[in-house]
Amino acid sequence: MEKDTYLLNYKGYNFESPLVDVDILENLDDFEIRDDDVFLITYPKSGTIWTQQILSLIYFEGHRNRTDDLATIDRVPFLEYNIRKIDFLKRPSPRFFSSHLPYYLVPKGLKRKKAKIVYVYRNPKDVMTSYFHFSNILVTLEAGNNMEHFMERFLDGKVVGSRWFDHVRGWYEHRHDFNILFMMFEEMKKDLRSSVLKISRFLEKELSEADVEAIVKQATFQNMKSDPKANYEDIIKHEIGRRTDEGRFLRKGTVGDWKHHFTVEQNERFDKIFQRNMKDLPLKFIWDLNEE
Ligand code: A3P
Repeated sequence: MEKDTYLLNYKGYNFESPLVDVDILENLDDFEIRDDDVFLITYPKSGTIWTQQILSLIYFEGHRNRTDDLATIDRVPFLEYNIRKIDFLKRPSPRFFSSHLPYYLVPKGLKRKKAKIVYVYRNPKDVMTSYFHFSNILVTLEAGNNMEHFMERFLDGKVVGSRWFDHVRGWYEHRHDFNILFMMFEEMKKDLRSSVLKISRFLEKELSEADVEAIVKQATFQNMKSDPKANYEDIIKHEIGRRTDEGRFLRKGTVGDWKHHFTVEQNERFDKIFQRNMKDLPLKFIWDLNEE
């Protein structure tokens, strides 16, 4: 295990040093999985908070009709970043977890196809753009400085989550070992309703028309941005710590914002590296909704 101010490297993968629960890491393999556990797994900045909200809305009537007052992060907490020290063993079923873990570090129960996994991926140019801005918000992440500098770190995997290519590739190539549904951020953006239905079908959760309406409405960017239970502002302010007052978790929520931040040269470099790492992978990517 190697550790500095920002990164903790455990078995070849970078965790957020100040927030990770090392005890959990050391016992990950044997962490007991229940058949009805639901995992949301992502590389950072790929739509985690959005899908946490969708899962919570699908499962909890009190969230859908706004009768209870629990933040999404407490309903679908991170396994490896147990910020609010939840006793996972005492959680009632079905339990929900979020995680940025690579395929090879997850509890072995998941590899036995116990529990369901929703894996959300996003085009890596938008991931990097989102990540760059995000790094300048949290005190727990190394500041992004400028885009050029951040791009070096992102491509080298010197960020929380390590190399994006390895994360997505690893999960995709090992998909047959898991009970897993792949969702694409851009498809969710294009057609949120169909995406909600796809997720609920995979989870075998029956929803009425009215339920679906309520979920779609409350999972839009605008709604989440203004909903304190959904937008993480509280946990960032009180438990994680802000570097500056500017910048929000829900920043733009668009597809193709990378075009406003990459130079032509950076884009070409990125394309080459993408090709080299991903060319034989049959996963679809959408770089810009207008170009579809
Ligand atoms: P941007 O920085 O590009 O705006 P994560 O939760 O994995 O950290 O991902 C955060 C990204 O998802 C941010 O991207 C955020 O705005 C976007 N996002 C969150 N909720 C969303 C929603 N309801 N619709 C669209 N994008 C959303």
